[in-house]
Amino acid sequence: MVSRYQPATKSIIHYSANACLLPLCQLHGAAVTTVEGIGSTKTRIHPVQERIAKAHGSQCGFCTPGMVMSTYALLRNKPQPTMDDITQALAGNLCRCTGYRPIVEGCRTFCQEANCCQANGAANCCLNGEKNGDEPEQEKPQLFDKLDLLPLDPTQELIFPPELILMADTTSPQTLTFHGERVTWVSPVSLEELIQLKAKHPKAPLVMGNTNIGPDMKFKGILHPLIISPTRVKGLFEVSQTPQGVWVGAGCSLSELHSVLEKLVPQFPEEKTEVFRALNRQLGNLGSVQIRNVASLGGNIVSAYPNSDLNPILAAGNCKVSVISSGGRREVPLNQDFFVGFGKVILQPEEIVLSVFIPFSRKGEFVQALRHAPRKEASFATVTAGMRVMFSESSRVVQDVSIYYGGMGPTTVSAAKTCQAIIRRPWDDETLGQAYDILLEELALPPSAPGGKVEFRRSLTLSLLFKFYLEVLHKLKAMNVITDEVPEKIQPLPRDIQPGLQEFQPVSKDQSNHDAVGRPMMHRSAISQATGEAVYCDDLPKIEGELFLMVVTSSRPHAKITGLDVSEALQLPGVVDVITTKDIPGKKVRTFCGYNEELLAESEVSCIGQMICAVVADTKAHAKRGAAAVKISYEDLPDPIFTIEEAVEKSSYFEPRRLLQRGDVTEAFKTVDKVYEGEIRIGGQEHFYMETQSMLVVPVGEEMEFNVYISTQWPTLIQDAVAETLNIASNRVTCHVKRVGGAFGGKVTRTSVLASITSVAAWKTNRAVRCVLERGEDMLITGGRHPTLGKYKVGFMNDGKIVAADFQFFANSGNTVDESPLVAEKMVLHMDTAYNIPNLRGRGTACKTNLPSNTAFRGFGVPQGLLIVENMINDVAMVLGCPADKIREMNMYRGPSTTHYKFEFNPENLLRCWEECKRRSDYSARRGAIEQFNEQNRWKKRGISIIPIKYGIAFSDGFLNQAAALVHIYKDGSVLVSHGGTEMGQGVHTKMQQIASRELHIPPSKIYISETSTNTVPNTCPSAASFGTDANGMAVKDACQILYQRLEPIRKKNPKGTWESWANKAFMEKISLSATGFYKGPDLYVDWDKMEGQPYAYYTYGVSCSEVELDCLTGEYRTLRTDIVVDIGKSVNPSVDMGQIEGAFMQGLGLYTLEELKFSPFGLLYTRGPSQYKVPAVCDVPLQFNVYLLPDSDNPYAIYSSKGIGEPTLFLGSSVFFAIKDAVAAARSDSGLKGPFSLNSPATPERACLASASPFTQKVPASKPGSFKPWALDI
Ligand SMILES: Cc1cc2nc3c(=O)[nH]c(=O)nc-3n(C[C@H](O)[C@H](O)[C@H](O)COP(=O)(O)OP(=O)(O)OC[C@H]3O[C@@H](n4cnc5c(N)ncnc54)[C@H](O)[C@@H]3O)c2cc1C
Ligand code: FES
Repeated sequence: MVSRYQPATKSIIHYSANACLLPLCQLHGAAVTTVEGIGSTKTRIHPVQERIAKAHGSQCGFCTPGMVMSTYALLRNKPQPTMDDITQALAGNLCRCTGYRPIVEGCRTFCQEANCCQANGAANCCLNGEKNGDEPEQEKPQLFDKLDLLPLDPTQELIFPPELILMADTTSPQTLTFHGERVTWVSPVSLEELIQLKAKHPKAPLVMGNTNIGPDMKFKGILHPLIISPTRVKGLFEVSQTPQGVWVGAGCSLSELHSVLEKLVPQFPEEKTEVFRALNRQLGNLGSVQIRNVASLGGNIVSAYPNSDLNPILAAGNCKVSVISSGGRREVPLNQDFFVGFGKVILQPEEIVLSVFIPFSRKGEFVQALRHAPRKEASFATVTAGMRVMFSESSRVVQDVSIYYGGMGPTTVSAAKTCQAIIRRPWDDETLGQAYDILLEELALPPSAPGGKVEFRRSLTLSLLFKFYLEVLHKLKAMNVITDEVPEKIQPLPRDIQPGLQEFQPVSKDQSNHDAVGRPMMHRSAISQATGEAVYCDDLPKIEGELFLMVVTSSRPHAKITGLDVSEALQLPGVVDVITTKDIPGKKVRTFCGYNEELLAESEVSCIGQMICAVVADTKAHAKRGAAAVKISYEDLPDPIFTIEEAVEKSSYFEPRRLLQRGDVTEAFKTVDKVYEGEIRIGGQEHFYMETQSMLVVPVGEEMEFNVYISTQWPTLIQDAVAETLNIASNRVTCHVKRVGGAFGGKVTRTSVLASITSVAAWKTNRAVRCVLERGEDMLITGGRHPTLGKYKVGFMNDGKIVAADFQFFANSGNTVDESPLVAEKMVLHMDTAYNIPNLRGRGTACKTNLPSNTAFRGFGVPQGLLIVENMINDVAMVLGCPADKIREMNMYRGPSTTHYKFEFNPENLLRCWEECKRRSDYSARRGAIEQFNEQNRWKKRGISIIPIKYGIAFSDGFLNQAAALVHIYKDGSVLVSHGGTEMGQGVHTKMQQIASRELHIPPSKIYISETSTNTVPNTCPSAASFGTDANGMAVKDACQILYQRLEPIRKKNPKGTWESWANKAFMEKISLSATGFYKGPDLYVDWDKMEGQPYAYYTYGVSCSEVELDCLTGEYRTLRTDIVVDIGKSVNPSVDMGQIEGAFMQGLGLYTLEELKFSPFGLLYTRGPSQYKVPAVCDVPLQFNVYLLPDSDNPYAIYSSKGIGEPTLFLGSSVFFAIKDAVAAARSDSGLKGPFSLNSPATPERACLASASPFTQKVPASKPGSFKPWALDI
């Protein structure tokens, strides 16, 4: 949070800002408050920190400081915010773990709305929302106690430093100049000085919010040797009113612009403020609060983004700018002549925008700003529009009209010809009908236009105009200018997040208070994470002589390396060395699934992003410069393979390819009433762990010993990899993992390759070497979830009974094998899911392509495989014209059952989840209501779906099902637990603490877990496969039981003694207070030849029902409600498990509806950061989100009858995909289209809109595939 004192008004303003974009030089005179400043465990934690932590809003914790500070900044300005304020404040913060619901609930306790918790005093909390079931509300256990929260007392906040007030009041501001290594920063104070500077240095940018220049310098490597920062030039911030409108200083931030307009609107009649209101609506959706707080109005205009939100409405609204330079002052209209190209405006380089004039509207004039973006909030728009129409008095005849679009070319464009077709004509269907055709022609995009989505963007221009048309019609009707019936107005989608239900079973009344098992205990590090004290890998203090490593990657998808010239890099300041494959003293490859993968490419590259060498330098900036200076020459090799289809055509596979079948599929197809063949494509997914790959390798300095501090799921793998690479024994490498800022499968194999390279640098230079990937590098290099193509043939009877199904699963593995055959194998193993299809066959194939290698990702192939299976069920339902839930229900396993790999199980709890979910969600009644809604609405449709999952837990490679633990009791009675699991947000340490608490009969507060390290617990297995608690929990239990028994004689001698006295006595009696525990898990296996086995220890079951509302004109949707019922046996920690369920569900929702990786036709990943790749944000949380843990469930195969839950519910996010598909089907039906249709995943607004087949999408001619080179590939 930045705070500034304003001498003119003697007031202090506070605002949140993105640290990564905020230039330090600009903070002169400002106070910066960080998360560490507002509270700490050493002094007092702040209520915001406490509430987010106690509401279970912190899992891996990497996002938590940001969440805390966004909320804190809001509360500093508004101590009693509304829910809308809270969701707005959090809109710019991303969390990959929690699914946001608990963060929102923690923050909800500050708001005073009727529907929220009154934790600031009265105990009147309605956090649990509606009543369900017969049990009285107060008896239901709560995830956190709303009465146990510190009150928010604004008088206790930090004060603004008086020295800064004194400085501002007493000293007159001076020009500031900062000299950096390559950049000089000048901050003038007077307009005259600014004008002179700009005249002298016309190429120097004016940095205001730095939201355009900053990313350019950081990500595109653009260097500005001189930066002029006019943020202290008062003349740029003046606001003045005239009879015609308002002049707003170009330096005003977008938030300031918003509040200026907000204050003006109520002061004038509505008809005068059309432009003001349109601008404010648009501003509400532009970027995020943090961006709007710093980004300037002038900066936005001059940046001339192709999809700027403001420029179309400023242009349509007849705004103008006042510009100044040494040549004088002039006014320039913001019209089509102003925006001349990509990032270019008509102004001279030395001209400065002083202010912007926003006129009052006139009677009979209507103005609207519209936008559509890939994500509802915090996202650049796909298409934006500003529209204005003026009517002669009491007439529907158009006197003047102005329409501008963004996102339809290199800059803001005017639809001048369309306007010509509307002007002087009546505002009616006929005029607009002709206007659409002209608009289509006028704003035609070439089929390979940058940004892609060509058909969608073109159809959006039409549908946004249609929305404006309707809006204006309604206004004319309200003014009695027209009297005839007008079509329905399209209301915005609902957006208020309601309190949800999280229902779980209480522990038995007889359970000891000391025994933490089964209770919703807060994540053990949540408070430290919320105060910023939690230490992540990159927080480790710099070590004397430490170097930073930056990798250099291939820019070719498939090529021979013909030259590697590092000479220039080595000359640069700070660069110490360049590491190539020749420097590796040991094994130069990592072996996965029987294939070798080079750590650093030597003679050939097989994807863009493959690592070739690494530059080490004294700082990150120097390493980055060094990496950019490495010159690599290539000789391209022919025919790189990118898509699954290309791989299949060329039989480019990684072996083994797997086949499983039961029954006789071929014969069965001959016996059925109907056969249907279909396919679906599922895009990949980026892990987007908040903490990128991070490590620090420290040579101890003697006998080849190394300490590796790293963010990984599998410390032993890192230890092995470093030892092999350096050709040393494993006992010289100690791997330490304190905590991991999110992993989701992405911090196993890829991390081991990076660790190997970093260790070579540390070995060669004999200095500590740190490697922390930037987001863009991480996304480019490390791969993610496998994009998958599923093909199927299904045979079924007219009543919906499925008799035979034949699947083919093709996973795009990328250039190396990694774990790809295992991922494809898991698709085949899970393909029966909840259904008993008597004749079932499936083949899983890992395709080798020239893309970065894909790897494990939460669910490990199951989320892709099952979407294909459920899509097949949907197709059956659509062929038969009956609801998909009927087909699902009819084909489910019932009674004692056997899977297609001949494993016997009882599906009773699956069916219980199904029934419970139908009951809890009120499925039947809501389906009826949806049908009614759809009949009444032409442009908005609702859809609902209910989806089951049966998910196998544990590793099907039996040897991985083992774990060990080491428990020490110290003489003072405190206990230190070490085990093989890594804490990455999933709460494994918290659960281990609970387990130790039960076994040792002591409160969890006496138990500590410091880290996971290979020198305490050796030969660990990865924290993966949802098996962490099952395996490590049993090992911790074992160790604790051994120790408890050892203490028994002492306890017997002194039964009234304290735990501490027993521990001390045991020491005095020479009893060992340290024990290891071990768990030999199930020997799981699959015999692929016999097509049988027991690959899983047991199944976790779940069912999810989701309902969405879809705007068919834009494809935008909202999840109105989600109900999830999950069988996780007896939960060890309901709050942690609830967090896993909700977090995984939201990650699934992202996978199936939002997250889209885009590759160029040459295999370059375009989507390398949060601005291009959208993970779910607060706006994506189901508006009502209810989770129920199935009661009365036991599981004899895991600790305390619990079940693994890390992965299974990710697939339940597909209930949103199928609800969208249901809504799309309703829209298609209005266009006369029935039966199965194709909707690939993710069901983005683009896909949902095009599939809805509205009259507008149907107007857009589709380009013939093959007749052009698409901007992005379908891989
Ligand atoms: C994460 C993120 C999300 C965003 N989302 C959106 C969005 O949804 N919609 C949208 O429209 N925009 C969005 N933006 C863009 C943002 O609004 C603009 O970058 C911002 O308004 C530019 O203002 P600034 O002060 O930060 O510019 P700076 O980066 O400080 O400067 C940008 C350019 O403007 C020039 N300039 C600045 N002020 C003047 C002046 N007074 N006279 C002449 N030249 C000047 C500078 O010389 C420089 O070339 C987003 C940006 C980010 C980083
Ligand atoms: S807790 Fe939010 S990213 Fe992990």
